Order: sequence, then C-alpha cells, then structure tokens
Amino acid sequence: MKGKRILIGITGGIAAYKIAFLIRLLKKQGAEVKCIMTPASSDFIPPLTIATLSENPAYVDFWNKQNGQWTNHVDLGLWPDVFIIAPLTANTLAKLANGYCDNLLTATYLSAKCPVIVSPAMDLDMYAHETTNNNLNKLASYGVHIMPAEVGELASGLVGKGRMVEPESIVKYLTDFFVTQKQFDAKTILITAGPTYEYIDPVRFIGNFSSGKMGYAIADEFLKRGAKVILITGPTNQTLVHPNLEVVSVVTAEEMFEFVRSRWVEANVGVFSAAVADYRPEQMETSKIKKKDDKITINLVKNPDILAWAGKNKTKDQFLVGFALETNNALEYGKNKLKLKNLNAIVINSLADPGAGFAADTNKISILSEDEQLLDFDLKSKADVAVDIVNFINTKQ
Ligand code: C5P
Repeated sequence: MKGKRILIGITGGIAAYKIAFLIRLLKKQGAEVKCIMTPASSDFIPPLTIATLSENPAYVDFWNKQNGQWTNHVDLGLWPDVFIIAPLTANTLAKLANGYCDNLLTATYLSAKCPVIVSPAMDLDMYAHETTNNNLNKLASYGVHIMPAEVGELASGLVGKGRMVEPESIVKYLTDFFVTQKQFDAKTILITAGPTYEYIDPVRFIGNFSSGKMGYAIADEFLKRGAKVILITGPTNQTLVHPNLEVVSVVTAEEMFEFVRSRWVEANVGVFSAAVADYRPEQMETSKIKKKDDKITINLVKNPDILAWAGKNKTKDQFLVGFALETNNALEYGKNKLKLKNLNAIVINSLADPGAGFAADTNKISILSEDEQLLDFDLKSKADVAVDIVNFINTKQ
C-alpha cells in the first residue's frame, strides 16, 4: 500500500461517515489519499473532516466560489493508482452506468484511466431492484470492480443486503488488488464450463446437473487478475460480462470440441471444468419422437474427450488443468486422469463430500499436480475455491 495513490469518491449515503476510518487506515499503511465528494455526501460527513484526515483538499465543486479556481477533473482522473467509490449510492450508480457527469465525482469517473472499484450501499429493496442489478452489471461490463454489499443492519432499521463493506475489508480488498491486479496481464485463459446437452430429437436431450458456477467463478477470478478469458460454455443461467471476456456459447460436446480445437493454440492456460457428456445419441431424430411403443432404445456413441485432446496437443509452455468429479475413489481416479490426459494438474472433488458438486454454491476440492503434490482445501464458496485454483496456477507460471 505504501506510496499508492488512492482516490476515494464519496457519495451521499449514511455509510459516508465510515470513510473517515477508511482514510485513516489507508494513511497508516502509507497510501496517499485524495477524496472527491458529491454535494449530497457533505450532509453525512463534513468536507473538513475528509480534508483533515486525507491531508488534501476535499474536492466537491468544479470551481471554488471564493477565488474562482477550477478543479480539473481530468487531472484528478489521471492522478490515482486506483479510484474507489464508497459508499456508492443507487443514484450515483445510475449516473455512472449511463455516462452522466453532472458533478465532479461523475465527471472524474469518465476521465479516470486507472482501475475503478465501487462499494455500493443502499437499502435492501433498492439494492435488490432489477435496475440496480442491471446498472451494476453494466459497470462490470466496463471493467469496473464491484465489492458487493453485505448483509446486515441498515439505516432504515431493516436487516438485509445493502450494507457497505466495512473499511477494514476495503483495505484488505485493495491490498489483494494491488498484489494480484497484473498477475495474468497479457495471458489468455481458455475455460470450459457448464454441462453439454446431447440431442435426442429437436426437443429432448441427454444432459447433466452442472450449473456452470465453478467455471464462471474461475473466469471471474482470472479477469480480476488482468487475464484475457475465452469461456466456452454449455447451457447455463450464469452471466458474466467484462471487456476482456469472450463468451462462446455451445450446446453439444461436439460443438464445444470444435471451438476448443480452434482456440486452444491462443491459450497460455486451460481450465476444463465443463461436465461434458461422455456419450451422445448415435443419431438425432429430425422430428419429435412420438409416444407409441412401450420401450424404445437409443444407441449412444462416445463423445470426443476434449480435455484429452488438449493434453495431447499441449506445448511445453501451456498449462492445462482438468477436473475430476467422482462419487467414489476420487483421488485414485484423479491420479489416473492426470496421467492419461497429460495434464499439469487436476482439481478433484468428490460428490461424497457434503456441500461439493454441481448445483451447490460451495465446493471442497483437492489439487493434484503432475509432481504428485496434493493440496487439500476446506469447504468454501465457489468464488473462494476459484481464488485457490487461480492462486495455485499462479505459482506454476
Ligand atoms: O474422464 P472424465 O470425464 O471424468 O474427466 C473429467 C475432465 O475431463 C473434466 O475436466 C472435463 O471437463 C473433461 N472432459 C472433456 N471432454 C469429455 C469428457 C470430459 O473435456 N468428453
């Protein structure tokens, strides 16, 4: 944090008073801090407090009414290593999402060249509103980093999701951010995610319960660390938007294979988390199968093993990670797969572990690497599991 230039944008939410603590924590760690305040935020915390703690003027207006001096939003936007807007109200969020620049803070956002992090804070119903959600997604698609609001007591007296992340956690986020921000700069990561659907006829398919959550979480984590990500995904409800993300949507294993084959050469790292169907119906009926016989037989033929193909066609500079989801003997099967498919590492999870597996929000993994080192991790959210997986890959780069 030492010597980092941090620009804090403060908007008019009750959590604005906590920014005093945030400034103190950042200054203690040796950061330089400047603050821009929206006019409404000064109802919650006086500019004098902010100026005193940050040891810089509190920038509120475009120009000083006493001496006519102009505050240059372009200079302010070029100054910081990071611009963090906290608390971010629904109002300023809507302005940022739509390019409004009616105050110094919103104008500086448009001029800023550095990474932008936002920490939304609002009442639970406002936070849950689809408009807010869409606006946050819009910011994410511009590459803005979002620190999701937390669950807790709100100023309205209600309890729910909408609390600003505490200053200590913001400092931790920033510290991690500076460490990891450029780890995968100029690296391309190819990720497969989700299930594949194998057509029986135009309206039916053979599929599996994969939600795609794990693969999307891994993609998100790589994007946060500066990577370019090609995400080849089967049908899922997951959404992810980012300027460095290319999403290729497929349905069948053969389609997934086709795209992996044409894009693998671009990748420095491959993480194959898709639950690819091992078999597909030998032929897809061209019209809907009618209900008539008591019994019908569908012949299945083997799908291409996409991961094995990538392993076979891997250069010594490419790093390939596969997944093994097993119901029993997970480690044993994982070891075999690692060798058989020529992988650098395999993420093993067992459906026998409570909280692990397809539709869950949590997962419990072990990572086995080609040098036979085994790392065991606790049960965690899939986002935190993604952090562990990307940390591991980073140690191998
Ligand atoms: O052999 P198994 O299907 O258990 O291996 C799982 C791993 O192989 C996962 O990483 C999965 O994404 C990948 N896989 C694949 N193509 C297949 C089957 C599995 O890429 N046809």
